[in-house]
Amino acid sequence: MSRWAWAEVSASAIAHNVRTLADLAAPAQVWAVVKADGYGHGAVLAARAAQAGGAHGLCVALVQEGVQLREAGVQGPILVLSEQPSTQTTMAIAAGLQLTVYSADGLAAIAAAGAHDHPVHLKIDTGMRRVGATGHETVALAQAIVASPATRLEGVFTHLAVADEPQNPFTGQQLARFDEALARLAAAGVQPPLVHAANSAGALAHPRARYGMVRVGIAIYGISPGPGVDHLCTDLRPALSLHARVSHVKRVGAGERISYGLRHTFAADATVATLPLGYADGVPRRLHAVGGTVLLGGGHRPIVGVVTMDQLMVDCGDDPVQVGDDAVLIGSQGGHTITAGDWAERLDTIAYEIVCGISARVERRAT
Ligand SMILES: Cc1ncc(COP(=O)(O)O)c(C=O)c1O
Repeated sequence: MSRWAWAEVSASAIAHNVRTLADLAAPAQVWAVVKADGYGHGAVLAARAAQAGGAHGLCVALVQEGVQLREAGVQGPILVLSEQPSTQTTMAIAAGLQLTVYSADGLAAIAAAGAHDHPVHLKIDTGMRRVGATGHETVALAQAIVASPATRLEGVFTHLAVADEPQNPFTGQQLARFDEALARLAAAGVQPPLVHAANSAGALAHPRARYGMVRVGIAIYGISPGPGVDHLCTDLRPALSLHARVSHVKRVGAGERISYGLRHTFAADATVATLPLGYADGVPRRLHAVGGTVLLGGGHRPIVGVVTMDQLMVDCGDDPVQVGDDAVLIGSQGGHTITAGDWAERLDTIAYEIVCGISARVERRAT
């Protein structure tokens, strides 16, 4: 053990989650989104587990992420979800990565890199306003992809902005715009093998968004995309837990203060345990100020004082605690559970940011 802090990642939980999503979305194919190092879970582990669970393909954000999977021996379709610098195109083609296109420049870069019959997915912006071809560009670009010997139109897709709010009518509007675009493409004689729109929340909450494939990220890690769809995630299993061992124990007196800024004052004498994890590991500095706890000795212990770069402190009251005791920051102990979603709620963010924020220096142990 290199340090007393680590994350455990369950490949079987990811495989289970993919199977669950595949059953739900069938006959649509499931493509597992493993960008950002598998949302902090480890990209190679996540990719292999997703494939074991029946994922048909994988999605990444960066060419380098796809190359990393290939170098680890991961086979099968891998889609890069947005256009990348043209300097990356040769590498992407050599690695057999399917590419997203939504501009004439993006298409030209693939041809210039010497591709032949390379599978590309045309992305259409239906309201996310991030990337994607818009209305009038779509048919011309699709026809150019079809006409070019460098490329083959493998898919057409869009991305949903509010799928995690099932009552929000905007998803219906996006899907209507997408259907119109598909109809215009069909009228122009363009019929892509794959049509896709749904992220996790789309796949879970909007059957109409499933089309021929779904691109599921957060849900394969057993994490709900947001409170509005929590009730649809009860069959999913969280794949990651975050652990530490107590590295130091001391007694403090009532009235004493602790950590940078001395922002916490002890109301009573207490035993304080130090855990060797901090904000450089992805534990937000202000978790102490929003009621953050860790599980130690079978119960919740409040984090006291600001979280420092490498260490944090918890108040154990008068309970016994020793150096080497196991603490759980995300996960379960003694019948209690803390989820990434709990942190997110306290910190007014989303669980995605929590798990992606667990930094590279936290060893991931496959379980
Ligand atoms: C284009 C695209 N598709 C799918 C996903 C997966 O989203 P989720 O993790 O909500 O399933 C993402 C993630 O941000 C994305 O950018």
